[in-house]
Amino acid sequence: MTREKPKNLWLSRWGFILAATGSAVGLGNIWKFPYITGEYGGGAFVLMYLACILAIGIPVMMTEIALGRRGRGSPLDAVARVAREGGAHPLWRGVGLMAMVAGFMILCFYVVAASWAFAYTWKMLDGSLAATSVEALGGVFEAHNANPWQLGGWSLLVALLTLFIVAKGVQKGIERSVSWMMPGLAVMLLILVGYAYSSGSFSAGVDFLFTFDASKITGEALLAALGHAFFTLSLASGAILIYGSYLPDGQSVARTTFVVAIADTLVALLAGLAIFPIIFANGLSPSAGPGLIFMSLPLAFQQMPFGTFFGVLFFAMVSIAALTSAISLVEATVAYLNEKHGISRAKAATGAGVVLLLISLLAMLSFNVMAGWTPGGKNLFDWLDYLTSRWMMPLGGIGMVILAGYCLRSEVMRDELNLPPLGYALWLFMVRYVSPVLIGIVFLHALGWLGFDPIAKWYWIAGAIGVLAVAGELLAPRVRQELARG
Ligand code: TRP
Repeated sequence: MTREKPKNLWLSRWGFILAATGSAVGLGNIWKFPYITGEYGGGAFVLMYLACILAIGIPVMMTEIALGRRGRGSPLDAVARVAREGGAHPLWRGVGLMAMVAGFMILCFYVVAASWAFAYTWKMLDGSLAATSVEALGGVFEAHNANPWQLGGWSLLVALLTLFIVAKGVQKGIERSVSWMMPGLAVMLLILVGYAYSSGSFSAGVDFLFTFDASKITGEALLAALGHAFFTLSLASGAILIYGSYLPDGQSVARTTFVVAIADTLVALLAGLAIFPIIFANGLSPSAGPGLIFMSLPLAFQQMPFGTFFGVLFFAMVSIAALTSAISLVEATVAYLNEKHGISRAKAATGAGVVLLLISLLAMLSFNVMAGWTPGGKNLFDWLDYLTSRWMMPLGGIGMVILAGYCLRSEVMRDELNLPPLGYALWLFMVRYVSPVLIGIVFLHALGWLGFDPIAKWYWIAGAIGVLAVAGELLAPRVRQELARG
């Protein structure tokens, strides 16, 4: 079978690595990771999160990049092509479609969340954060959201910036912009860690992040860690798949995956090292929840020397991180419209932008004008977050590993991943037995259907994976033979 010729390719390997890291590094690393680490008690959570990145994040990301590159197209078309080539049922394209839809839904609330970072960069400067308590800063945050013009204006700015970059193309828009934004982000982060180091409470921050307390390992925390591993690597939402489709043939999928996953993890840990010492130095609580960076942190900055400068630097860094993620969320849709319907990138970006603005307008209004409209107990912003991170991303992830691990003829992935035998065997073991079982458990637990604590019963789970693997590897060749004969 002749393979699809790529229309777009990264200019260099770094193009992919920077763009994919830009997608992965976002609000998830700088906003969500520190506060959930705070809520779930520090070091033990960090350890579980690292384990999840290894056991699920890396195998799923390799699969997603390989599917994208093999199919060379938008998530829907790429998965459809790979399924055809590998002799899998055409309905598998549904996995690609769902990833694309999930990406667009994430985008609709992500621009609103990203706009907070942009707005706070400005607010650090104009004095509106000059309150003296966390409560008062909570009031500032609420007042900001209660004003649809403010929230809408900032969100519009984020959306326009994103669409403008995407419209300019893969190399001239995305690759060029990430190749200065990502190094810029790294420098800002290191400066902030240095500042936190000088705050006098650095060791309290280090202790908090890295002191391991076994009693803090709970089922709840593990599930949060697992969900976060998915979210932080941008998996199963079309972004990594579309970026993978621009990866030149000779590049190693495994090596690039490791670089991106390590970079993403480093940014999350360094963000923790920048934030917690400042929080502790000012006697604030590390477990303040989602308000940690918008309420506690601005107060901390105010009480510190040169706080305004470093506060601006901090929120500018968060803004860049969010922008490079938003770009990757639009790209899948734009590539799809461009490829399937022959619409130019500029027009596709405009069209996607109009739909985006309409939906995210509703997400924005759910903070103010429509605050009373909460079907099923959630406003639209929360619904988008809930549906994507609780349902669509885990389902899409399971779909991808099952497709790659069981349903495609084995040459396809073997050829695309091009690993040494042991590496390939390890990948196959992970996508066949470990990732789907673990994702399935998270999923069932999130639904409340699990009925037991997965931590207390971890040896059952490990045993089940072992039995499944042995049975699967013994039976699979026979079953396949039967099917081939029948
Ligand atoms: N990884 C992003 C973050 O950490 C969030 C995210 C989830 C995302 N899925 C995505 C970003 C898809 C871009 C594309 O903030």
